[in-house]
Amino acid sequence: MGKALDGVRILDFTHVQSGPTCTQLLAWFGADVIKVERAGAGDITREQLRDVPGADSLYFTMLNHNKRSVTIDTKNPEGKLVLEALIQKCDVLVENFAPGALDRMGFTWERIQELNPRMIVASVKGFGPGPYEDCKVYENVAQCVGGAASTTGFDDGPPVVTGAQIGDSGTGLHLALGIVTALYQRTMTGRGQKVLAAMQDGVLNLCRVKLRDQQRLERTGVMKEYPQYPNGTFGEAVPRAGNASGGGQPGWILKCKGWEHDPNAYIYFITQAPVWVKICNVIGREEWATHPDYATPDARLPRLKEIFAEVERWTMTKTKFEAMEILNKYDIPCGPILSMKEIAEDESLRKTGTVVEVDHPVRGKYLTVGNPIKLSDSPTEVTRSPLLGEHTDEVMAELGYSPAQIDALRTAGAI
Ligand code: COA
Repeated sequence: MGKALDGVRILDFTHVQSGPTCTQLLAWFGADVIKVERAGAGDITREQLRDVPGADSLYFTMLNHNKRSVTIDTKNPEGKLVLEALIQKCDVLVENFAPGALDRMGFTWERIQELNPRMIVASVKGFGPGPYEDCKVYENVAQCVGGAASTTGFDDGPPVVTGAQIGDSGTGLHLALGIVTALYQRTMTGRGQKVLAAMQDGVLNLCRVKLRDQQRLERTGVMKEYPQYPNGTFGEAVPRAGNASGGGQPGWILKCKGWEHDPNAYIYFITQAPVWVKICNVIGREEWATHPDYATPDARLPRLKEIFAEVERWTMTKTKFEAMEILNKYDIPCGPILSMKEIAEDESLRKTGTVVEVDHPVRGKYLTVGNPIKLSDSPTEVTRSPLLGEHTDEVMAELGYSPAQIDALRTAGAI
């Protein structure tokens, strides 16, 4: 079976996490992704957080599946010529260098357009145009400037960053969507275009509901779905809401059996309005189903702490999986807090290809997260990440270089 992006060639100038997330997705959808790295060094993550001496790190291998690796010194004049040939051959150039780095290499938007007017140039940057556009940015900086940190954590503690890499991987996802959209538009216009995904913008997009709440707070001075209500105070900005869903269906994280020794013996429990009667029955508080203080969502809002404490008395008598099984029977939305160990061992995630075991010639077998997006006509086969420069000769030959020319370029330090 063919792949959705068969025939699309990506010149992959990405490194670390945000850009590689994007190009890995494109590779999983069938694009030929040619990753350009510096000879002798490569993507810095190859050697970061190493767990097997001499082997590419999991940081690198888990973000660079299904790609080819070529080494080119793009500051070497002859290396630049190779890069020009690649620009003429590829459809998309993806990069997440620090601002201005591509221009400093001599590959401005204008120059790239001269070489290939159909080329789409896609970039991740920390910030969009404005006062911070020249700043280098990493994951947690993006979480802080995109509104996630100020709205994550508990009211009585400092801002908190989340383990989900919404700044890096989140922005990579945004960029991938921008690229396929630009490719689609190119089928009609014949032209390439610039695609920019700024990490601050990507995080803010994922925090959209918090900007919603900011405006609600300004209008009403109070947010009844937040744990600060009814006894706490609200300031000028959306506060941290702990584990509250903050939406129309109140939720909280509750202890389950074993919580004293297992840090993940918890369940997320949602008091969804349509199943309120069933919740009352399950926890043994049948009278709450009709009691005016509890029967309606509005009546419950000022009593959420008491209600969750009562539900917790019930969840503490069950393991998180027992609780989930019982609650699911009644369509009561809930979710056990799964540890990474539990996820790694989850058979159903292995079956769907969401968790995949990959074999690597240097490090051996390891687990990775496969493609979370499943296309029925374009199934993903996860193949290992490339060794540094593994495909240099192959790609050079495709560009028309002879073995003697390749040797000469290597001797000159261009590749
Ligand atoms: N040959 C020659 N030079 C190369 C090269 C190659 N194949 N590949 C990269 N380089 C050079 C670049 O041209 C640049 O040189 P310059 O500074 O002289 O212009 C240099 O390597 C370093 O690139 P830079 O992007 O500045 O790396 P860094 O390690 O200093 O910064 C980041 C890392 C992530 C902070 C920065 O790239 C950044 O802010 N990127 C945008 C936001 C982003 O994606 N952040 C999240 C990363 S997960």
